[in-house]
Amino acid sequence: MEDFSPQDHFRFPDEPEAIELRAFTHGLQPATVPKMMEHFTEDWRRFGVDAWNKVPNHWRPEHGESVGWWTLPTYLGDEFIAPLLGAPQGTCILQPHVHWTVQCLLSAPEVRDRGSKIVLPETAFPSVLHSTQQWEDLQSFQASIVPSIEDDRVDQAALLDAIDEDTAMVALSHVGFTTGARLSDAFLKRVANEAHAHDALVLIDGYHAAGSMPVNVTDLGCDCYVGGLLKEGCGSSGNTFLYVRDGLPLTPRLTGWFGDAAPFEFRQAPEPHPDVRRRFLGGTVAVAPMYHAVEGVRILLDLGLDTVRSHSLHLTDLAIQRADEAQLSLRSPRDRAARSAMILLEVPDAHKLTATLKKHDIYTDSRRNEVVRMAPFLWNTEVDIHRTFDHIERAVASGSYRDTSVSASGPVT
Ligand SMILES: Cc1ncc(COP(=O)(O)O)c(C=O)c1O
Repeated sequence: MEDFSPQDHFRFPDEPEAIELRAFTHGLQPATVPKMMEHFTEDWRRFGVDAWNKVPNHWRPEHGESVGWWTLPTYLGDEFIAPLLGAPQGTCILQPHVHWTVQCLLSAPEVRDRGSKIVLPETAFPSVLHSTQQWEDLQSFQASIVPSIEDDRVDQAALLDAIDEDTAMVALSHVGFTTGARLSDAFLKRVANEAHAHDALVLIDGYHAAGSMPVNVTDLGCDCYVGGLLKEGCGSSGNTFLYVRDGLPLTPRLTGWFGDAAPFEFRQAPEPHPDVRRRFLGGTVAVAPMYHAVEGVRILLDLGLDTVRSHSLHLTDLAIQRADEAQLSLRSPRDRAARSAMILLEVPDAHKLTATLKKHDIYTDSRRNEVVRMAPFLWNTEVDIHRTFDHIERAVASGSYRDTSVSASGPVT
């Protein structure tokens, strides 16, 4: 990280002293995004309809391959998402949001044919947890929701026990969004072995994992891996992704004409595209988001995910040390192996502490008024951690922050 200058790679808020610690919601904007958005408006102006077939390759100018709006979801999947996930070529595609991908997956008869149970922990994100319940009637699925153990942790033994002959799929979050806890590779592999022994599939929601640490979907043995580029991926909304294990037969019924084998023949009956990942496309894809989608991933890949992870661990080590000194309890894992990029501190009136920090241009967030969350990331330094904890320590020692008035917490995830 010594040679890495965040100022060269990211754009910062106007406040000169701002400390952005919310990579779990939105990373900073990569410096190349304004140029990429200009390319979008210019390609649209210059090429109009023809841009669907061919635009200059702004994403990999050094490669010079031909790209068009039509093929961007798979091209960016191969060039940027596959290396992020350690996935083979031909297995990754951009998607609009995790919610859509899960809907498509649940609509595939090849999932229902394996059994009627979807096993998942109660802490799964709503895009997975709610969708599964919504599909209970449509596919006569039964959501087998495994209750958490203390502090929202996944009950790993109960989850493994819940997998049986009637299980169609197991769906897990790689990192718990309410806990910051990362499921170990060993556990995820055990789940994959257990699921496959019962002819069930494994879906991992990799939001908060992919982009903040090395991930290898092939080693994990999962069948599908979804995630997004909005948060630690430093993209903006409209860009998530799907990995589908090579050779896995899936014909989602929620596919659209962009996922058809011959979209421009406008045939009477649908025919699934031979490339399975393309079947997860619906109608006309949103083009503008794909211009900024992978600018953050480019930075992460150039730097190397091992470096990203060790910087994150270094700063969360320091944050934990400062939390201990301030006698604040940690809600997220202390153990490095189980830690993600975020840490959660238990604080009374957490919303008010977050609001107080914001007045000093230190951006964290709070949950249920019980915990303050922060994720020091690529652009943060030790100085940022010390400044943040100096404020927290003073605020907690005096208790004065509890007199701050706060409006309802904002719509952030
Ligand atoms: C674990 C997890 N999964 C999924 C999402 C988002 O899903 P979607 O793309 O459906 O909005 C989030 C946060 O927004 C998340 O934290």
